[in-house]
Amino acid sequence: MWRRLPGEETAGLVSTSPGTPVVFRPTVVPTPAFITIIILTWRLIWGALITIYLHPIAASLVAATATATVVLGWKVTLFGAGAVASALALWANLAFPSFLTWVGWPLLAFWRWLWIYRRHWLAVVAVSGLGRSLKGRDFTPHLVGVRCDGQVDRVTVKMLKGQSDKEWCDRSPNLAHGFGATSCRVSVEKAGRLVLTFPRRDPLAVPLPARPLPEWPSVGPVEIGQCEDGTPYKLKVHGTHILIAGATGAGKGSWLWSVIRGLLPAARAGLVQLWAMDPKLMELSFGRSLFHRYADAPEDCAYLLEEAVKVMQERAARYAGVRRNHVPTIADPFILLLVDELAFLTAYQADKGLKQRITAALATLTTQGRAVGVGVMAALQDPRKDVVSIRNLFPDKVALRLDESEQVDMVLGDGARDRGALADLISPDPAIGAGVGYVWLETSPDPVRVRAAYVSDNDIRHMVLRYGRGTGEAL
Ligand SMILES: Nc1ncnc2c1ncn2[C@@H]1O[C@H](COP(=O)(O)OP(=O)(O)OP(=O)(O)O)[C@@H](O)[C@H]1O
Ligand SMILES: [Mg+2]
Repeated sequence: MWRRLPGEETAGLVSTSPGTPVVFRPTVVPTPAFITIIILTWRLIWGALITIYLHPIAASLVAATATATVVLGWKVTLFGAGAVASALALWANLAFPSFLTWVGWPLLAFWRWLWIYRRHWLAVVAVSGLGRSLKGRDFTPHLVGVRCDGQVDRVTVKMLKGQSDKEWCDRSPNLAHGFGATSCRVSVEKAGRLVLTFPRRDPLAVPLPARPLPEWPSVGPVEIGQCEDGTPYKLKVHGTHILIAGATGAGKGSWLWSVIRGLLPAARAGLVQLWAMDPKLMELSFGRSLFHRYADAPEDCAYLLEEAVKVMQERAARYAGVRRNHVPTIADPFILLLVDELAFLTAYQADKGLKQRITAALATLTTQGRAVGVGVMAALQDPRKDVVSIRNLFPDKVALRLDESEQVDMVLGDGARDRGALADLISPDPAIGAGVGYVWLETSPDPVRVRAAYVSDNDIRHMVLRYGRGTGEAL
């Protein structure tokens, strides 16, 4: 092995690598002192300019303080600083959200850039294998900036030329541990740039109570829970089909019930019809008087699905050449078919004929239903059984807690786990993990982590009392 060793020291070195007969001794060119001084001064000026460019506010604060101290004296400067601090405190008291947006989060971001990310950047990137060393030169991805909000840090990174986001996705556990976070999500901002999302605290670790019943009938996206950044999560139900997969106790019920709850006023207004199927008899049967149609026996479920196909075909014939989209009206309401434990009707169904009828009806509904206002929302426990064929029929998928890491891609699609959908790592403790899941919508580039609100038995009883059949106009 030939190694390049520094200058004069080579003379005194003995190579420890066996079979190394030659040690190279680089040529040392004596540089005049003034050139070295020019280079060092230029580096200093360039470094200062870059710092001012990257941190204009911090740089102007330092410059203003220094100038004021020199020109006005330290007492006046101290008084001025006290006045600014009092003004900020008043601002925080009067309008905390705007104070956070303009002062709090940028200050926190600056601190975390300095103390966490800048300080550990070189080491973490090198150890996780994301830097490169070529012909004796080190290439390190560039840390562009840090943004903070109440829950997460978003770190923008410029990748090395020729690197792919896949490499970063593979190293996300290294990055998370390296920067002291529990996880790291990688998303592409634009060509060559990534955003790494590190949660600082998990707002989804506490159960959410059921969302308030909407005041106005709406078929638009239904608020069913909360996103990781603390914002409400709204699930689009009209114009799509949704598949929810999760191990037993993962909280599939809270997703189904939160959607039902959000649509009840629209159902009362006649804009939505909820058709429920509960072959396991343990979930939707609890509120059966809320549903326009209900079935639990597999034969009845097959019949209901075929009825939905008939409605769909009748609408398609009527709409043909007239319109391309469905608008919910009392004459043509949005029909949402809710199925708990879909595998009871497909994979576990012993009666072959019945299974075929159900699968055919489901496939017809999911391929042709959304343009005419017939949607399917199905929950499923075991993603291994038949799921890959079924999955492709549903544009939107949700992965709640799963038993194995391979199941994540089976439910959400290839590459979902690499993109941060760590559904297999969701806590099995219901207080922490039930109802938590990753959603990968047809329209979004990355999976989103969400927790559905918990609709308790009491909430369902209350919904039945207020919206059940016989408590008002027809549902
Ligand atoms: N969103 C939630 N927040 C907090 N706890 C929840 C939530 N959803 C469910 N739970 C708790 O987890 C338990 C299991 O939930 P659920 O019955 O919905 O699971 P599941 O996925 O339907 O399971 P199975 O497949 O066995 O029916 C509930 O009894 C409840 O105590
Ligand atoms: Mg269930």
